[in-house]
Amino acid sequence: MLPVLFAVRKMSKRNKNDETGQTKPFCYDMLLTVFFMARNGQMDFSMMLIFVFFSFEIFASVEPISDSAHVLSIIEDAMDQLDALKKENYIDSDGKDIPLDHYDIEFRHVNFGYDSRTILKDVTFQIPEKTSTAIVGPSGSGKTTICSLIARFYDVNVGSIRIGGHNIKELTCDSLLSNISMVFQNVYLFHDTIRANICFGKPDATEAEMIEAAKKACCHDFIMELPNGL
Ligand SMILES: Nc1ncnc2c1ncn2[C@@H]1O[C@H](COP(=O)(O)OP(=O)(O)OP(=O)(O)O)[C@@H](O)[C@H]1O
Ligand SMILES: [Mg+2]
Repeated sequence: MLPVLFAVRKMSKRNKNDETGQTKPFCYDMLLTVFFMARNGQMDFSMMLIFVFFSFEIFASVEPISDSAHVLSIIEDAMDQLDALKKENYIDSDGKDIPLDHYDIEFRHVNFGYDSRTILKDVTFQIPEKTSTAIVGPSGSGKTTICSLIARFYDVNVGSIRIGGHNIKELTCDSLLSNISMVFQNVYLFHDTIRANICFGKPDATEAEMIEAAKKACCHDFIMELPNGL
């Protein structure tokens, strides 16, 4: 009996990392049944050994199937979410590629909130082209929100935003964003070369354009001092 107990102990240890915990109680039930059957003489010792070994082996190999069923349900949920995304309308489906002949920006009586809370209320201002404007205000007052609305990351609730005399809703997002460069408050770099990061917004940029962009951002000298440069 001792070797059997030793083997059972060893197998139980192997099942200790079992996350589902489903096979372990079953194996113990099986063991108890087999043990009592052997004790009452309903089963001989060799048959008992076979049951003991196979009860662990069989259920250990069935276990990954139940894990896979769990993964399949996660994949199904993800596919449902992707399907729902595909059915959504594009924000700029009515937009056109409009070349702008000037770049004045104008807010006209804009109201906006991300949810029911109003962040911007009746905001009206103009930013003439070729000028610099600083938007100053306490944290949370809506400065970043104003920039996000100009780039049409969100649509205004009331009022309009115009660029070059056109309501930004008349333009496709690509057409609008081709006129805008943004340096975000939270900056992320992709795990890639500096060159790839600079060209992210314009993958077909020429070498000269990429270097010019680095110089305009005042980081070309710093980049060239790095061991691998661009
Ligand atoms: N994606 C979002 N969803 C919901 N609420 C948001 C979202 N982004 C910002 N807010 C809320 O909108 C308000 C304005 O935020 P915004 O980031 O525009 O302020 P800010 O003036 O740029 O602040 P800071 O000076 O801290 O950068 C805040 O109350 C903020 O919590
Ligand atoms: Mg901000």
